[in-house]
Amino acid sequence: RDLAIGLDLGGTKIHAALITRDGEILGEFTCQTSTNESDTSANIIYAVNRVLSETAVDRNRIKGIGVATAGVIDTERNIIKFANNLGLENFPIGAILEENFQLPVRLANDANAAAIGEWMWGAGKGKQNVIYITVSTGIGSGIISNGNLITGLKDSAGEFGHISIYHDGIVCECGNRGCLEKYASGTAINIRANELLKNGETSSLLSIVNNGAVVMNTDIATAAREGDPFSLRLLEEAGEHLGTGVISLIHLFNTEVIVFGGGVMNMSEFILPSIKKTVLKYGMENLVNEVEIKKSVLGIHAGVIGASSLFFLNETNKEASS
Ligand code: BGC
Ligand code: NA
Ligand code: ZN
Repeated sequence: RDLAIGLDLGGTKIHAALITRDGEILGEFTCQTSTNESDTSANIIYAVNRVLSETAVDRNRIKGIGVATAGVIDTERNIIKFANNLGLENFPIGAILEENFQLPVRLANDANAAAIGEWMWGAGKGKQNVIYITVSTGIGSGIISNGNLITGLKDSAGEFGHISIYHDGIVCECGNRGCLEKYASGTAINIRANELLKNGETSSLLSIVNNGAVVMNTDIATAAREGDPFSLRLLEEAGEHLGTGVISLIHLFNTEVIVFGGGVMNMSEFILPSIKKTVLKYGMENLVNEVEIKKSVLGIHAGVIGASSLFFLNETNKEASS
């Protein structure tokens, strides 16, 4: 069996793909995420079916379905315990997929899976201390330390988006206050832009708000590329918040490479320099000087590739070390 299905359940998109043990994609399908259980069940079954029918490979070649999902999971029961951005609580994703496809199911957090993907086939290849950070609807991370993914008790380590950067800050759906993702996720950047513009800031984006529409990440990206100072400052601030969080990660894990992915990295030319500047200015010199901060190589495929590799990880590691 040389293939596995990767299914990525993100805050914006559901992405399914059939992938070889070498990380090569044979076929894929994407649809929008919904925020209720029955639509999510229907969508994931549909997405996997589409990939299976379009690739038409012998089913006996498929090892199983690897799932990368936003949120806190329980790999013993194969359920999604809580995903604020997907509207899911105690969602039995393992049972649903096993029942429909008669294949084994393995579950990982979306950022943890993407970290494995980037480490095996992408920007962290060949390194032993790699952290992957996704900045999208939410913010998440996967931490590889000395060649091992840090999993924690039930495989939910790495909730970087929910570290508190202001103890009395904005209330988050997770129950905490001042979470990083409330200040620097794609969602947070949009909310802040719209708020400031309604309060009379000057920007080329004002026309959107004045027409009764809502400013989105793509609008901010366009305005920033045209030199709009308001948009540039917004993205610089998001980078400063991310950089502040990243300093803690580097101090905790003595990291070698930090890989940034997620939709917001479509604006990486504005955000990454601000992250790097913050890290170098405020971090411990001997630790931060060693770190390479770069953009994801696998892009939107990091999640599905990482998820499918949950079925090949140990054998690949064995081959690599023998
Ligand atoms: C979730 C994480 C996830 C991240 C990115 C956060 O809101 O809590 O589990 O990794 O979003 O999707
Ligand atoms: Na994570
Ligand atoms: Zn939170």
